[in-house]
Amino acid sequence: MDVAQTTDKVTRELRGAVMLITVDHPPVNALGAEVRRGLLAAIEAADQDPAVHAVLIVGAGSHFIGGADIREFGKTRTPPALPEVCDRIEACRKPVIAAIHGAALGGGLEVALAAHYRLAVDGAKLGLPEVQLGLMPGAGGTQRTPRLIGVVPALDIALTGRHVGAAEALALGLVDRLGESGDTLAEGLAYAQALLASHAAPRRSRDAQGLADVAAVKAALAAARADTAKKSRGLFSPMKIIDAVEAGLDHGFDQGMKTERALFLECIDSPQRAGLIHAFFAEREVSKTPELAAAKPRKIAHVGVVGGGTMGAGIAIAVLDAGLPVTMIERDTPSLERGRQNIEKVYDSLVARGRMTPDAKAATLARWNGSTQYEALASVDLVIEAVFEEMAVKHGVFAELDRVCKPGAVLATNTSYLDIDEIAARTSRPADVIGLHFFSPANVMKLLEVVVPAQVSADVVATAFALAKTLRKTAVRAGVCDGFIGNRILGVYKTAADHLMADGASPYQIDKALRDFGYPMGPYQVSDLAGGDIGWATRKRRAATRDPRARYVQIADRLCERGWFGQKTGRGFYLYPDGARTGTPDPEVETIVDAERARAGIAPRTFTDAEIVRRYLAAMINEGANVLHERIALRPLDIDVTFLYGYGFPRYRGGPMHYADTVGLAKVLADIREFAADDPLFWRPSPLLVDLVERDATFASLNQSFQSK
Ligand code: NAI
Repeated sequence: MDVAQTTDKVTRELRGAVMLITVDHPPVNALGAEVRRGLLAAIEAADQDPAVHAVLIVGAGSHFIGGADIREFGKTRTPPALPEVCDRIEACRKPVIAAIHGAALGGGLEVALAAHYRLAVDGAKLGLPEVQLGLMPGAGGTQRTPRLIGVVPALDIALTGRHVGAAEALALGLVDRLGESGDTLAEGLAYAQALLASHAAPRRSRDAQGLADVAAVKAALAAARADTAKKSRGLFSPMKIIDAVEAGLDHGFDQGMKTERALFLECIDSPQRAGLIHAFFAEREVSKTPELAAAKPRKIAHVGVVGGGTMGAGIAIAVLDAGLPVTMIERDTPSLERGRQNIEKVYDSLVARGRMTPDAKAATLARWNGSTQYEALASVDLVIEAVFEEMAVKHGVFAELDRVCKPGAVLATNTSYLDIDEIAARTSRPADVIGLHFFSPANVMKLLEVVVPAQVSADVVATAFALAKTLRKTAVRAGVCDGFIGNRILGVYKTAADHLMADGASPYQIDKALRDFGYPMGPYQVSDLAGGDIGWATRKRRAATRDPRARYVQIADRLCERGWFGQKTGRGFYLYPDGARTGTPDPEVETIVDAERARAGIAPRTFTDAEIVRRYLAAMINEGANVLHERIALRPLDIDVTFLYGYGFPRYRGGPMHYADTVGLAKVLADIREFAADDPLFWRPSPLLVDLVERDATFASLNQSFQSK
């Protein structure tokens, strides 16, 4: 047997007449420079060796090839480039077979597409997820895929980045055969033998006929462009994917490859790629916290929820959907019945839309039980309180939980603003008390702020993160303060928006400027959607503690006094005639805004959209710096993830702190100092921001990794 190391990461071995090439680069066989070099050398050797009649490429470990090595992006590129490797594989004069198990993603699928025959075993995941990182396939994915399977499915795969399983891959023609036994190597060798026995020749994807009907392909490309303009507004790489496919259609495979490469390099250099890759890494780091490095989670098999209103019902659904039983407590029987209905309504609508079967609904609801007696919580492992946002009510609930819950049960509050240290201190077990701040609707929104009070034990924090994982939420560690990470920073930049509105920008211009920045909605659309009454109640509660010198814009109060709470009342900042979900600007609101400006003695001025964005973001970044300075967030990436998952911050901009680095912190600080000339109380530069600018440092330099157990 001839076993040769072509590099450390790719081995070749002659199995009869078949050259077995194994990519062995744990954990996912990513296509780093050594793997590319090894593959190139191996295919070259196989092509030259007269003893070799066919080639089989497999991955060692759990995957075929997971994709490019994304840590190489943005660095000097080491040859050979992947397109060169793929072209060489495709050009091989002997049949090349790829046998796929686990992930064949991005460059991994492109290697497989360059092979002449493909086999996949159960559990294989094929896909071109580059688009999710602001990229596009760069090694023939935009050329070989549509030729092989047709333009519509190829664009679907490349524009969504979704994973395709083995059976679907066979149906699409992405693979030729399924390996029933699941033994990739044995199946691959058997396939190679079968091909040799039938004298199968190399069969190149570049020659496949998926683009033959030019008129139909043109129509599909036009449709994809229109759809992408709507769905991927503001994104750079999706249109480039379509451009590359079109170039291959118009000018042939080789020119298509060149265009693809040029566009790929444009994507690599785009700030969107940097933002999306930051988001990708940040979301992996965010779940590693100091507490997780120190402790193991407690076991959670049964969850209690106190309160069946908007949040309690949503939280209960999230827990039920994760397969755990829920016991709900309400203050009286009618409220409990309402709580149950709040949950049932959601499942009924899923059933009505065909997204859930009646049997699955019944099975899910069978895990729910409710009571008006706290004793029903005696055996739960964790309880989440979601009652009215009033300290006295919370104290009453926690006194009951303290009385009935078993030792070691985790006692969590979903409070938005209240002091969790105070809630914990009133119990006999402050080490078990933690904040679990869900976002509305709690069964949909991905973000969960895990709020860590001073006395909580590390294993309770670890438990909260484990629960988040069970609920498929992204958890961010936050410290105790008014509003934690998200709502605290939101309060400040929303105030900056209100100042802009009072000073001359219309709410409609502000919303549009922020939509153009990449938000799905502007702040006044969000306010109309959430209900103006919620913010109004918070403002009234805070009136007594507000700094009397601070500027207070009353426009929203004027609307609320008229009962204009937004969508649910048919008007707010916008008009929603006949239950419309998209609002139209309201001239009466503009009159009210004018009147408020006059009352406050403000001579309105104009703002450009860019100025609006600059002020809104400067307020966000400055308060973000304060939150870091006070250790409410331990790292800038915690703030980034909070805003990406809970507040609609455009993912391709990476989050506010990443964005600040791309603008330049000195520039942000200069903006804040400029704005401070008019309002020094509001625009106070954060000491951390000043310090970073003095040291010529970035927020990124403060990101650190905590190892988990
Ligand atoms: P809600 O008013 O819809 O529901 C509160 C529920 O608690 C009601 O069903 C009420 O009957 C029940 N309740 C009141 N006192 C009780 C007691 N002593 N024992 C048992 N049940 C009792 O309020 P919502 O919006 O669900 O808010 C609940 C908590 O979640 C608040 O602390 C709020 O700040 C927080 N929160 C709210 C968000 C939102 O968007 N609505 C987002 C994140 C947190």
